[in-house]
Amino acid sequence: CQRQDVRPTKQRLLVVTNRLPVSATRRGEGLWQLEMSVGGLVTALLGLKEFDARWIGWAGVNVPDDVGRKTLTNALAQKRCIPVFLDEAMVHQYYNGYCNNILWPLFHYLPLPQEDRLATTRSFQSQFDAYKKANQMFAEVVNQHYEEGDVVWCHDYHLMFLPKCLKEYNKNMKVGWFLHTPFPSSEIHRTLPSRSELLRSVLVADLVGFHTYDYARHFVSACTRILGLEGTPEGVEDQGKLTRVAAFPIGIDSERFIRALELPQVKDHMKELKQRFAGRKVMLGVDRLDMIKGIPQKILAFEKFLEENPHWRDRVVLLQIAVPTRTDVPEYQKLTSQVHEIVGRINGRFGTLTAVPIHHLDRSLDFHALCALYAVTDVALVTSLRDGMNLVSYEFVACQASKKGVLILSEFAGAAQSLGAGAILVNPWNITEVASSISYALDMPADEREKRHQHNFKHVTTHTSQEWAATFVSELNDTIVEAQLRTRQ
Ligand code: ADP
Ligand code: G6P
Repeated sequence: CQRQDVRPTKQRLLVVTNRLPVSATRRGEGLWQLEMSVGGLVTALLGLKEFDARWIGWAGVNVPDDVGRKTLTNALAQKRCIPVFLDEAMVHQYYNGYCNNILWPLFHYLPLPQEDRLATTRSFQSQFDAYKKANQMFAEVVNQHYEEGDVVWCHDYHLMFLPKCLKEYNKNMKVGWFLHTPFPSSEIHRTLPSRSELLRSVLVADLVGFHTYDYARHFVSACTRILGLEGTPEGVEDQGKLTRVAAFPIGIDSERFIRALELPQVKDHMKELKQRFAGRKVMLGVDRLDMIKGIPQKILAFEKFLEENPHWRDRVVLLQIAVPTRTDVPEYQKLTSQVHEIVGRINGRFGTLTAVPIHHLDRSLDFHALCALYAVTDVALVTSLRDGMNLVSYEFVACQASKKGVLILSEFAGAAQSLGAGAILVNPWNITEVASSISYALDMPADEREKRHQHNFKHVTTHTSQEWAATFVSELNDTIVEAQLRTRQ
């Protein structure tokens, strides 16, 4: 007789993000190369193993022809991904324009574009229209794949209009929305011309999540101050309908990093790096090349440290791995040249015939090389001017079980709330303070390093991405029941 499969069925989940976990490049007729996308959102969502998850989003490529769309759809299906096709004009207006030139900077406390107010205001409206249209396109694809009982989890600032579009298709859909960036003070959010429409759309979701309690509080204040709604300890209430708003601090799949350190190829990488930088302390920065990461500030602080500590000049190296991102947005292009210019100047000033103080790479590293680099690092430098959470700091801690290196962490990263007790917290705008923290970190006694590391390692290994996803989805399932009860009262 046949054995019955008694495994419990996994919860079906439709995860909707602007960018899929893999990005596609065309390599010929019907041939697609799929590469892992880079960014905190993708890293965190790799922890969805406990769910029967399908991923809906953009594959980062323009595919105008039907054959291309069909072959790409098939290639992505093997990764459980479903594409949303955006044409070039849409990518320009929605992704480069409204998402990355307006919302991303604003949510990180960088004001709306200033150059020409009138032109900005005019293009603002067309970009917002494109944003809404793009969100509608995502909703259509979700609706095509939705089955009763599915949970739909929308992510990030690209898709704030999505909860409303989804509930217009089907008001019984369980919809959650999670923001991976900070949500700024309501005083910042209120400068956005489309401030109310976006808030109202997000409130249509059944559960709204943020990385920290502060971001959740800012969102609730924006709803009370801008929309005149009632904020309660549980969320926001509008005419008897409660939208639950809460903090769900994200984590990483720490086991994946810890296991990787045992692999022969990672050990080989570590050996090479140790030989290459023998006799020098290794400092590390790993970031997308984004203005919110404070890369120029970090490098200037390192320059100040070298200036003030001549005895360290040939005994320390800063490896800054900065993967280019959003390269069609002018602000990002300016940042790339600015960083290159500063690095060149400092290397010219402090370099010798045999060594330079800063190795700056404009590229991404594969997972194994990244783990090896984290493991051999003495001091990691995370100097974000604002950051939703910052998972690089978590990844560094996960790989430091034997070395117990020091983390210098911006107080403006969400991670400062969880790793603050183990890290050296700095204000990245204060170059003098960061420079003296570098000096302190390099000289820190072993027992202090051990204590600080233990604190952070415990946090990183217990607050994982799996736990984060499970908590959010479980609360989403419960919340809808609660919300229905409340409206019936
Ligand atoms: P963000 O989401 O703003 O990019 P996070 O620090 O939260 O910032 O996450 C960044 C993710 O991208 C991490 O998982 C990190 O390992 C990865 N990453 C960033 N820069 C690089 C790089 N140069 N090479 C490889 N991976 C990178
Ligand atoms: C951050 C955002 C993500 C985004 C990632 C990479 O992590 O929160 O939504 O995917 O940056 O940016 P990109 O524009 O390349 O998708």
